[in-house]
Amino acid sequence: MMRVLVTGSRGQLGRTIAAEFSAHHHDVVQTTADDLDIRDAASVARAFASVRPEVVVNCAAYTDVDGSEEHPVEALEVNAFGVRTLAAAASECGACLVHYSTDFVFDGRADRPYTEEDRPNPRSTYACSKLLGEWFAAGVPRHYVLRVESLFGAAPVAGDTRRSSVDRIVEGILGGETVRVFSDRTVSPSHVGDVAAATRALVERGAPAGLYHCVNSGFCTWPELAREIGRLLGVEPRLLEVAMADAKLRAERPVYCALSNEKLRAAGVAMPTWQEALASHLRSRSGLGETASRP
Ligand SMILES: NC(=O)c1ccc[n+]([C@@H]2O[C@H](COP(=O)([O-])OP(=O)(O)OC[C@H]3O[C@@H](n4cnc5c(N)ncnc54)[C@H](OP(=O)(O)O)[C@@H]3O)[C@@H](O)[C@H]2O)c1
Repeated sequence: MMRVLVTGSRGQLGRTIAAEFSAHHHDVVQTTADDLDIRDAASVARAFASVRPEVVVNCAAYTDVDGSEEHPVEALEVNAFGVRTLAAAASECGACLVHYSTDFVFDGRADRPYTEEDRPNPRSTYACSKLLGEWFAAGVPRHYVLRVESLFGAAPVAGDTRRSSVDRIVEGILGGETVRVFSDRTVSPSHVGDVAAATRALVERGAPAGLYHCVNSGFCTWPELAREIGRLLGVEPRLLEVAMADAKLRAERPVYCALSNEKLRAAGVAMPTWQEALASHLRSRSGLGETASRP
């Protein structure tokens, strides 16, 4: 059993991480920005003094990608310098730091899945802030920097209206609506349950510290993903396919961002395919229970 401090535990990944470690008998302390603001060194110091964590899982982030263009300081404060503060505290007390990053650190011009060896080339303020966070987290002797992408699968929380892109598509298809999807963005989606299980496996096994792509296996475009959702639901989806360039988003997104999770697999953590993860999520949504998709 380990003492695990989770930051940002109200978020979709944070609450899943807390549930995963608790379910496996770890002593979990969940914190939100109200009780542990990672921008505030005093708040971080108080939490570390009281919890004395062996593992810190940082799920706190400024995740508004377009908003980061208008609010770069806010994005940097949380995604970069907040991580630096956590990293210093974790190093000082010998804790393991788990931190999550993003496919957005790449420019999306590759023609094969990115590996951890590929050079980042962030194209937005959010992406720059996340890359800085990776670098700060990597200063902790025992660290795992896990890049995730297009998260989905978190249990809903009363009063929280935020939805993943996958759930937006599911609800649109079920509601008989025309669903708008990017025609040309290629992703390796990540089920939060699979990310949480992989995180726990890495920590419990004491896998080599470092950077890992922690995504479901394989990759797809958003229309392919929407059609797979339709197939699983037995509904023919009506899709409006929009090229990223035509969407006129404030922040540039990488077009091709398949990630290879081979390094994670080589560390003994095999991730289910995105199709298995999607099926698991839809079973869970329909109340049939979730079983299959776990490493
Ligand atoms: N969502 C995706 O598709 C995606 C894709 C790639 C990478 N990621 C990365 O995956 C990680 C988890 O993302 P997520 O989707 O779970 O994010 P999320 O649902 O937006 O949760 C982030 C949490 O961080 C909290 N937070 C914000 N500022 C904070 C601060 N200063 N101190 C402490 N907590 C703070 C937020 O609090 P409130 O609840 O009060 O807002 C929120 O609960 C992030 O590192 C993100 O960059 C996500």
